[in-house]
Amino acid sequence: MKILVTGGAGYIGSHTTLCLLEEGHEVVVVDNLRNSTSVSLRRVERLTGRRVDLHEFDLLDALAVDKLFEENQFEAVVHFAGLKAVGESVQKPLFYYQNNVVGTLNLLQSMEKANVRRLVFSSSATVYGASEDVPLSEKTPLAATNPYGRTKEQIEDILSDLGTADSSWSIALLRYFNPVGAHESGLIGEDPQGVPNNLLPFVAQVAVGRREKVLVFGNDYPTPDGTGIRDYIHVMDLAAGHLAALDYVKDRTGVFRWNLGTGRGYSVIEVIEAFGRATGSPVPFQFAPRRPGDAAVSYADPSAALADLRWSARKDLDQMCADHWRWQSTNPHGFS
Ligand code: NAD
Ligand code: UFG
Repeated sequence: MKILVTGGAGYIGSHTTLCLLEEGHEVVVVDNLRNSTSVSLRRVERLTGRRVDLHEFDLLDALAVDKLFEENQFEAVVHFAGLKAVGESVQKPLFYYQNNVVGTLNLLQSMEKANVRRLVFSSSATVYGASEDVPLSEKTPLAATNPYGRTKEQIEDILSDLGTADSSWSIALLRYFNPVGAHESGLIGEDPQGVPNNLLPFVAQVAVGRREKVLVFGNDYPTPDGTGIRDYIHVMDLAAGHLAALDYVKDRTGVFRWNLGTGRGYSVIEVIEAFGRATGSPVPFQFAPRRPGDAAVSYADPSAALADLRWSARKDLDQMCADHWRWQSTNPHGFS
């Protein structure tokens, strides 16, 4: 298939682009490179021996999006482009709603005009908010607790309404849990700008000597070791989930929702210890107060994806840490 990947230069987009190319698809990427660099895609080209056609523009530029659809006959779109920092979304809500919601509306309008009605969308477990009704299934009520999460919830609503209004759309909403790790080559991986918000990139930067120690947010949660529990999923497993979803929507119409997680939770301390095993030396940490808004426990019920897509995550926490470390240690400053 000829596939448009929005946000394809980013962390999950670059890994998924690699898998799409390896499956023989033709990939066109649109990315404004606000949170990424084209180097990721050059490396994907190196790894696959295939070309990626990158268009550097913003989805807010509706005319440019229209033009791209006029010039290409896409069979499907995988839509990663979006801003994802929870704290920044609280500070700049209008920016987040504009970028994520309006950007998606522009994309959908161009798709409709061009008669392209097959979409895989990056949603997030953040739509479940602080629910601790674990495991979280697709039937768990949505209750996002911050502007970023609400952009995902609103886009899910828009896509559901679209599927109701026009039954020729095929839409997969993928709710990712906590993506970590990197391609086994160590050539591509997550390259956060500034201080990482998420646990794994922070731990990796401590391990490589860029930061002194990990601050563990809270050790008084009602969990076995008192620290928060999350469902970490290897980015290559996640990428495989997109291919499975694309395959599913290829000859079905409707709006489908799937959790992409492993179904198993690990505590912050378990993650820090696993990373220490990957690097060969313990990662220094210190307990700190809870981070406001954090749930104690979050992990997926991934059974719907297994039943419908025949997809399940294969890589365990040690593999996630080993691959993340290979990327971080061979690229201590990311792509720069
Ligand atoms: P990322 O920031 O690495 O990738 C997103 C890409 O989209 C970036 O390359 C960025 O430059 C681009 N982009 C953003 N707004 C754009 C716009 N208006 N026009 C064109 N390009 C634009 O993030 P990621 O971790 O790869 O996440 C991909 C998607 O998955 C996002 O939608 C994110 O919200 C979602 N998601 C991520 C996580 C996570 O923890 N990484 C978890 C759940 C959901
Ligand atoms: N944590 C620390 N120290 C840190 C960073 C995180 O102790 O420096 C803890 C958190 O308190 C939490 C766990 O590590 O218990 C995981 O935190 P992350 O920030 O890595 O992940 P979250 O589950 O909080 O949130 C992430 C994204 C959300 C997304 C969610 C599910 O930031 O946007 O995963 O996909 F919705």
